Amino acid sequence: MSAILTEPVYDTLFQILQQRYSCRAYQPEPVPRHVIEQILAAAQRTASSCNTQPWHVHIVSGATREALSDRLYHEASERPPTEGDYDNPVRFVEHYRDRRFICGMQLYDSIGIERQDKEGRGRQMLENYRFFGAPHVALIFNEADLGTYGAVDCGAYATNFMNAATALGLGCVPQAAIAYYPDVVREFLGIPESQRLVCAISFGHPDHDHPINGFRTERAGIADVAVWHD
Ligand SMILES: Cc1cc2nc3c(=O)[nH]c(=O)nc-3n(C[C@H](O)[C@H](O)[C@H](O)COP(=O)(O)O)c2cc1C
Repeated sequence: MSAILTEPVYDTLFQILQQRYSCRAYQPEPVPRHVIEQILAAAQRTASSCNTQPWHVHIVSGATREALSDRLYHEASERPPTEGDYDNPVRFVEHYRDRRFICGMQLYDSIGIERQDKEGRGRQMLENYRFFGAPHVALIFNEADLGTYGAVDCGAYATNFMNAATALGLGCVPQAAIAYYPDVVREFLGIPESQRLVCAISFGHPDHDHPINGFRTERAGIADVAVWHD
């Protein structure tokens, strides 16, 4: 097991951004509560519209994590994902389609699932509902009244949560897959309708030896995204 450090493993934001990746295999050892609190304290510094801080974060571990995972896994095996609290993408065209395809292929290639193997891909998709073996999952909800800006703030919160976890040598993966079943999560945890599920983040100590953690996704160049107006 990697050492549990409260001192950062990566010091600068530039290092952290280079190191972070979506971790999809974990060691079973839990992360101590004070380390999780350190991540939460860092994420709490996130900027938000009018400083509303609309995020509610539910950290699920231990027996509750097992039971939630069982419930979601069963649900996802029985019925296809529905619309969550937030709209799904309308379509993926051109380079969006290409980038989505490439990152999917990288993932399936890393664990030897062939392109034609629909069943294998379905099986791997269901691993989302086992939280990829992570001992903890953070469920991030937005206050419904705060609308789209609140959801944007929650996205920024999720990013800071993941960067803080990375700085401490932990692994994490953001998951929209959990947000496809918001009613199941709300009912299970006794959360009111007024909280809208934005995404989940599974996290823990990475299994560095697992091949699924061995690939890194690419990014478009700056010239593809930035437009200069002088
Ligand atoms: C909002 C959001 C939702 C995501 N949902 C999932 C998911 O449900 N399952 C999954 O395995 N990865 C999910 N990802 C991870 C992306 O696939 C990943 O961030 C992307 O391919 C870039 O790779 P990287 O995170 O390793 O840099 C999600 C990422 C974001 C930001």
